[in-house]
Amino acid sequence: MKTVFSGIQPSGALHVGNYVGAIHNWVQMQDQYRCIYCVVDYHAITQDYEVKQMSARVREMALDILALGVDPEKAILFVQSAVPEHTELAWIFGAVTGHGDLERMTQFKDKSASQPDNVNAGLFFYPVPQAADILLYKAELVPVGADQVQHLELARRVARSFNHRWGKVFPECEAKLTATPKVLGLDGKAKMSKSLGNHIPLTSIEDRPLRKLLGRMVTDEKRVTREDPGDPDVCNVFSFHKIFSTADDQAWVRQGCTTAGIGCVDCKGRLAERMVDHFAGYRERRAELLAHPGRVDEILAAGAEKARAIAQRTLAEVRQKLGLWRSR
Ligand code: TRP
Repeated sequence: MKTVFSGIQPSGALHVGNYVGAIHNWVQMQDQYRCIYCVVDYHAITQDYEVKQMSARVREMALDILALGVDPEKAILFVQSAVPEHTELAWIFGAVTGHGDLERMTQFKDKSASQPDNVNAGLFFYPVPQAADILLYKAELVPVGADQVQHLELARRVARSFNHRWGKVFPECEAKLTATPKVLGLDGKAKMSKSLGNHIPLTSIEDRPLRKLLGRMVTDEKRVTREDPGDPDVCNVFSFHKIFSTADDQAWVRQGCTTAGIGCVDCKGRLAERMVDHFAGYRERRAELLAHPGRVDEILAAGAEKARAIAQRTLAEVRQKLGLWRSR
């Protein structure tokens, strides 16, 4: 059985973009593969953050992941810093990572531009611990959003050059994208992200708050009045219908929008209904977890124990290959 690994930064509660772009696949894959999922707090420290909020963010994210259907009976869910082997392997991988390869990473360029006062070396090194996360478990499939494809390419190169220099230990890993790996935000322009404030938090998916949020969603900008016909193919609301609505709903939108038979409010209302239905199970599981404080922490602790056992085996093998003192 192939091993799957994925990680997500502890940015707090999840939003629709996280779900559609990646976590949906996490849930799907747990029935077919050995899945290991991780909240990556070591990665998060490369960006500015509030120390006092860190553990709450980690817990909030884990809660949402579980509420979305990641099942601790089927998959391992843990927090990166509970398995310190991640950092040891990252250091070792640094020795087989090309400096030039890291310089090409577009996420490094984007993040440096977005925090010019904190262009730290960790931000530059970031894809190396990411490769370590994956390869510590010898994972072959990595469900991620489209923005991570370049990092996975790098992880593959790292595995190859490790195997070439010290002997074969690691498999080649590949990205597994969802059907919609990139979701735009309410502005209809940028990728949905919490830091841009154009996101739909999963916790807002209840009838009234959701209708209110969707009210802000940019539609076909050429459709100025209710009487103008619109073009669903350039409308971000329609791309959400494609994800959450039935074929019949989509046909209803296409027909109504292109003939000005329905307005954007009608179209958004139907979408709100479909999304509320889609996330009914999520809301239920979330309420259940919230009613049992301590449950999330227990799941994370049990997950870390399982993950650590695997990680220690890999590192023992790695130290041996490298001829490190500790492996004698
Ligand atoms: N870099 C990923 C992101 O920003 C998070 C991440 C860290 C990750 N380690 C990983 C994703 C390992 C997949 C596998 O979203």
